[in-house]
Amino acid sequence: MSAVAPVGGFQVRKSGARPPCAADFPALAASPHAHRSAGLAYLDNAATTLKPRCVLQAVEGFYAAGGGNPYRGAYQESIAATRAYEGARATVAAFAGALPGEIVFTRNATEALNLVAYSYALDRLHEGDEIALPVSEHHSNLVPWQLVCQKTGARLAYLEVDACGRLREGELERVVGPRTKLIAFAHASNVLGTLLSVEDVVRRAHACGAVTVMDCAQTAAHVSLRLDALGVDFAAFSGHKMYGPLGIGVLFARAGMLDALSPFLYGGEMVDQVERGRTTFQEGPRRFEAGTPNAAGAVGLAAAVGYLAGQGQDEVRAAERRLTARLLAGLASLDGVRVYGNPQADADRLGVVSFTLEGTDPQDVALVLDEAGIAIRAGTQCAQPLHRALGLQATCRASVGLYNGESDVDRFLEAVETARRRITRKIMALFP
Ligand code: ALA
Repeated sequence: MSAVAPVGGFQVRKSGARPPCAADFPALAASPHAHRSAGLAYLDNAATTLKPRCVLQAVEGFYAAGGGNPYRGAYQESIAATRAYEGARATVAAFAGALPGEIVFTRNATEALNLVAYSYALDRLHEGDEIALPVSEHHSNLVPWQLVCQKTGARLAYLEVDACGRLREGELERVVGPRTKLIAFAHASNVLGTLLSVEDVVRRAHACGAVTVMDCAQTAAHVSLRLDALGVDFAAFSGHKMYGPLGIGVLFARAGMLDALSPFLYGGEMVDQVERGRTTFQEGPRRFEAGTPNAAGAVGLAAAVGYLAGQGQDEVRAAERRLTARLLAGLASLDGVRVYGNPQADADRLGVVSFTLEGTDPQDVALVLDEAGIAIRAGTQCAQPLHRALGLQATCRASVGLYNGESDVDRFLEAVETARRRITRKIMALFP
């Protein structure tokens, strides 16, 4: 970090360049901010990521080559689409440490989690059973379990977290027991960036005979995902948060689990024999992919994981940790800023950083940043119970991705300082 000149309490730094891969992302140049020399500093990667050119080309290439309907036709376009779709399944499986037969394509992580709720939990849970989950969960890994409880008479048992977002000492032993049938948890919090110790959760689940459902939406693009080694029963992630297209996601179900699930959506191609009064269903992933699938999305996602692998996931993780350390240190040096979660870029922390600026509405801070060409998220980040547990109304959130460089972080810090000064001036004008 090379300090240049102090401005108020904040050190403006000479900015390093963005990584070379930033040139692969047309949206950085196409943004309404691109006319400014600084361009767009995109720091909302926890919400969605920008797409590299190879992903756009893969989607276009699928349609340009005929874009047939997979499985249905005896003509070349349909056969090619089937190959491309199944090829994408194999690529995504290898990337996540899974077998192709363990990968179901869905619309997104939310749909994948709902699939487990509807097709596994609704059929199996009863009054007296419990679903355990950290209070820090994203709504998509919380609301479906509320529904299961309402319909079955089971109850939710919350695991409390500390200020860093880690499970409190002894919490697994206190909450997870013989009544627990399912533990739902995020691999990493979308608010605090905290990586959960999956091994501890899986060990406790196995000891109690509970199944595990892991939401990997925040980790799939940022840490190497080895689902085979983690030992979870189900996992979910979204393509659009890992440089892939919108509208494609993944449910991982450990070998053998899928065949025990009842179908989720019913219709074409998920069936085997349909008679007037009854139907038998396909086995494996296709049983859960009713209707024409988003084959172009799957092909785009395969291109995205190829791109990620080409960047080197360990290198990406190391670079993102360095940026996170810079971001955390910079925010800590600003007056009136409060950061939530671990203040250090430790091994159990991703580059998802939530903060508040004293006396300001997070939405106002985000608007000031937008004027400077910096994209962050403000609000309750789809995690209202966590915000309540932390005593917060709302937060601002900055989150890094592989195209971000020191210049993005430094511009972000300068803009937060600008927001603080502007808002302080406004308050002083109100109370002269
Ligand atoms: N799940 C996304 C987020 O946390 C939208 O921002």
